[in-house]
Amino acid sequence: MRVPMIAGNWKMNKTVESAVVFVNQVKDQLPPARQQETALAAPTLALVSMVKAAAGSPLKVMAENCYYKDSGAFTGETSPRALYAAGIHHVILGHSERRNYFHETDELINKKVKAALDNGLCPIVCCDDTMGRRIAYDQKIHWVVNRILADVKDLSEAEVAKVTIAYEPNWAIGTGQSADPDQAEEGCYLIRQTISDMYGQSVADEIRILYGGSVTTENVGALMAQPDIDGALVGVSSLDPTTFLQIVNH
Ligand code: G3P
Repeated sequence: MRVPMIAGNWKMNKTVESAVVFVNQVKDQLPPARQQETALAAPTLALVSMVKAAAGSPLKVMAENCYYKDSGAFTGETSPRALYAAGIHHVILGHSERRNYFHETDELINKKVKAALDNGLCPIVCCDDTMGRRIAYDQKIHWVVNRILADVKDLSEAEVAKVTIAYEPNWAIGTGQSADPDQAEEGCYLIRQTISDMYGQSVADEIRILYGGSVTTENVGALMAQPDIDGALVGVSSLDPTTFLQIVNH
């Protein structure tokens, strides 16, 4: 049984003060975690720790990135071990903004996924997509397939069970132009089929797949009604507590 998740990705927004105010406004209006998990991703370890302290259950607090080493001379990076020790058990990896602005490769993301799992974290692995693939789809240019094959490879079945995938077509991120439900379903279905090819159908049936890209209060219901969409990774609409709650309680 896949438990749905609505996760807010604050990206590089919020201060400690505004984040704690936000959390206090939403934390008592969330569904039970067994019904639907609600999470927030904050931009720094310091902010994550402060939000975690304010959040309590059932709100989960996530990191937006971590390195593939547990410790060492890697100035500015965040250790997966330190995240787990701080009580942060989810981390977003491979977001298209990390790939595009910070040149993260599939090889690096796969290393980060393994390091996160080795330290007890549950990774949310972002899989981008291109309008070009959609146009050339009939030419079997499976951008999405190649991403999953590279980013989620060489895991055990038990490790895959801790992974969530987020399908985030580049052309929908931050644009206000969400993929329509059929497009979003097509991408999530393709991801699920790729996981099935890699790890078997029973693993594919259980993996949670989110959609991200201009999710709003207006489109969340139709997106969540799709059979292969198990939640949403929400950017700009997660910055306002009222809007985020409307999406969470869609
Ligand atoms: O990780 C979710 C994010 O990339 C989507 O952003 O602003 O289009 O909801 P947004």
